Amino acid sequence: MGYRVVIAGATGNVGREMLNILAERQFPVDEIVALASRRSLGTEVTFGDKTLKTKDLDTFDFTGWDIALFAIGSDATKKYAPVAAKAGCIVIDNSSLYRYDSDVPLVVPEVNPEAVLDYHKKNIIANPNCSTAQMVVALKPLHDRATIKRVVVSTYQAVSGAGAGGADELWDQTKSIYNPTDDKPPKVFSKQIAFNVIPHIDVFMDSGETKEEWKMVAETKKIVDKSIKVTATCVRVPVFVGHCESINIEFEEFLDEDEARDILREAPGIMVIDKREDGGYVTPIECVGDYATFISRIRQDSTIDNGLNMWCVSDNLRKGAALNAVQIAETLGTRVLKKG
Ligand SMILES: NC(=O)c1ccc[n+]([C@@H]2O[C@H](COP(=O)([O-])OP(=O)(O)OC[C@H]3O[C@@H](n4cnc5c(N)ncnc54)[C@H](OP(=O)(O)O)[C@@H]3O)[C@@H](O)[C@H]2O)c1
Repeated sequence: MGYRVVIAGATGNVGREMLNILAERQFPVDEIVALASRRSLGTEVTFGDKTLKTKDLDTFDFTGWDIALFAIGSDATKKYAPVAAKAGCIVIDNSSLYRYDSDVPLVVPEVNPEAVLDYHKKNIIANPNCSTAQMVVALKPLHDRATIKRVVVSTYQAVSGAGAGGADELWDQTKSIYNPTDDKPPKVFSKQIAFNVIPHIDVFMDSGETKEEWKMVAETKKIVDKSIKVTATCVRVPVFVGHCESINIEFEEFLDEDEARDILREAPGIMVIDKREDGGYVTPIECVGDYATFISRIRQDSTIDNGLNMWCVSDNLRKGAALNAVQIAETLGTRVLKKG
């Protein structure tokens, strides 16, 4: 016997990927339903070799459904996640709404799988921010060996991280550059994204950092270790899919670059591609559609006692969202629900 699974936000970037990944990984599904807003009623989405017609989330009855994978943004999640949870359906949520709630576990299965056991406090499990998810998969095995004191990270984040509208804006603006009569002023982003980079993701906070930067700090502490200090600069770049991060790590103990490379080669969810030659590293184009978080450019930072630098690339719609959510469902299945 398998699971009765709900996909809320099935017409969006993350929702469609969740459907793909559930099918690819042969998650034990007995029945699946695709939900979105009333605007999308009847829109067809694909699940393996099946086509599902999207239903209206607003009128859906969650009673008797086991797991709901949500990817509908914080405002709609605030309205619908408690309804699903109250009906006994466990919500795995991609929005930031519940990530910092002490009664809601924030889970990356390669890092803190045991946290799923706390799902019962609210019947909700949170999925981290895309840029946090790929970073913590790489940090955890290194932290276990040499104890991380501080991380300095700069991100290069794809436009699909801002939803389907972000990808449309890059596409339309890029075409309009070659056809100046067809002006496409910024709507989703605060400045032109085509042929540009923007050091601003999510809202500004009083401290001067953006909410995206703050999320990387708070989520790394909650998932890996609250004693790790993180400082982040998050930047939007004109790439459709695939987030990159330049990560500088300071450890308590010395960690040689070759040992770090060997540790990462053995670590779950990581693929090391690190040749010191032209093209011996991963760029976003190569990570699209893959499950792995790719690590390249591992090297000692000689400006501090125990420092390393590395380059981290992952598909933001997969490990950064949909894959991690499905992995949480798998972990919940094997550790708690035990169906399938
Ligand atoms: N993209 C990423 O890399 C990424 C990574 C991590 C987390 N997330 C999070 O995942 C969530 C979805 O992101 P996305 O990129 O998939 O966005 P998206 O492409 O814009 O899709 C949004 C989805 O939510 C649905 N929706 C919005 N408001 C709704 C409402 N009031 N009632 C019912 N359905 C509603 C939309 O349905 P309609 O089509 O009917 O409007 C659509 O299916 C967000 O919380 C986002 O922060 C995204």
